[in-house]
Amino acid sequence: MQPVSPPQTYRVKSFGCQMNVYDGERMAELLAAEGMRPATEGEDAELVVLNTCHIRERAAEKVYSDIGRLRREDGSSPLIAVAGCVAQAEGEEIMTRAPAVRMVVGPQAYHRLPEMIAEAVEGKRAVDTDMPAQTKFDALPARRKVGPTAFLTVQEGCDKFCTYCVVPYTRGAEISRPYASLVAEAQRLVEAGAREITLLGQNVNAWTGDDTRGRPVGLDGLIRELAEIPQLARIRYTTSHPNDMTDGLIAAHVEVEKLMPFLHLPVQAGSDRVLKAMNRSHSRDSYLKILDRVRAARPDIALSGDFIVGFPGETETEFAETLSLIDAVGYAQCFSFKYSARPGTPAATMEGHVAPEVMDERLQRLQAVLNRHQLAFNQASVGKRCEVLVERKGKRPGQWLGKSPWLQSVHFEGDVAIGDLVAVDLQEAWPNSLHARLLHTAHA
Ligand code: SAH
Ligand code: SF4
Ligand code: F3S
Repeated sequence: MQPVSPPQTYRVKSFGCQMNVYDGERMAELLAAEGMRPATEGEDAELVVLNTCHIRERAAEKVYSDIGRLRREDGSSPLIAVAGCVAQAEGEEIMTRAPAVRMVVGPQAYHRLPEMIAEAVEGKRAVDTDMPAQTKFDALPARRKVGPTAFLTVQEGCDKFCTYCVVPYTRGAEISRPYASLVAEAQRLVEAGAREITLLGQNVNAWTGDDTRGRPVGLDGLIRELAEIPQLARIRYTTSHPNDMTDGLIAAHVEVEKLMPFLHLPVQAGSDRVLKAMNRSHSRDSYLKILDRVRAARPDIALSGDFIVGFPGETETEFAETLSLIDAVGYAQCFSFKYSARPGTPAATMEGHVAPEVMDERLQRLQAVLNRHQLAFNQASVGKRCEVLVERKGKRPGQWLGKSPWLQSVHFEGDVAIGDLVAVDLQEAWPNSLHARLLHTAHA
């Protein structure tokens, strides 16, 4: 490839889960620390990092259409790096399929981007999908300015091997970041402006570590420590696995005021046969029992989940069990997907793949039920008083947007600033948001 001059401007585009968003932010900080600046809106960036997702076929294919779109009128392209889970899963294949790509860097190797850019400038093409023993986190620059809500990856990877899922292959084995470095990073995020931190992990509630006195603690121990940071107002965590929902974590929802009453606990399906074929290692009943314990501890908790329709072999009766589970739980909000066969996963070669039109129809019915529950949850909040963390300006003049403790989007008018935690009266509900009246500013 032709040598080029070192890039001065960059753009990082992240797809997929919140952990990819976190990684994208860290890559941007890394590039800024190298002296580059972010390209402004509409400006042609000299370096483009596509931070990709491999979870479903559509997500994975997007990267190739995006690369095509980066081609300039004169036939040239910016320096293109493919990062994230497609990079990990497809590695060299990307180089063959997309000749414009100069760098392919996996989710555990992106701290090496500066060296790879130096090589790419000389005209070389480089692939780095190692999962080195030294974690990228130790090699990244300190956090800079952040908004009122920030992500903090505490745990990565997955050892659960659900039969449909690529994550154990793209993110590797479960690792927990050390307690002390997480506390330090949380402190820096708060100093940089964060008032709410969401702890992230593919199985965040599987996080374990040793506290400052060397005692082993679970995620609840980390949450209790972070709650001691004075300027930090709110703590959230996602995504949890049912098998790692400990009594300690449930108790933290009662005892730690800063821990928000929200739990994202995916179940995927409502039929025991399907759950078994998915290798979920929990049953319908054991999942519902966990939620009973959570609700007994924290009756107002907002529950959330993920669902897959049309897993290989799923019958109409089994699908109906998913619908009845949703009705039994009454979720506040959920994500739902059509099953997508992923190369290399056990489910991809199972019998009985469900026809696309059947999946479409099941997804529509499932989403109709979920929407009904979401609206009901929001309507049941009308009349409540709560705090809202102001995140940004709304579309209308004088309007502000923020989140309730239950992660609902709330809009209201009044004299506030971004980052304020304000008390409101929830007045009107829609499926995706609520309108509120400002009462007074709780904290400056
Ligand atoms: N670790 C988390 C989430 C991982 S991926 C968990 O176990 O809950 C996010 C969601 O994508 C999953 O919960 C699942 O609902 C969905 N998903 C994963 N693989 C999929 C596939 N092959 N087809 C369709 N949806 C999938
Ligand atoms: Fe994927 Fe299952 Fe691991 Fe979640 S628990 S990341 S769905 S393998
Ligand atoms: Fe996608 Fe990788 Fe996240 S596959 S969902 S970006 S862990």
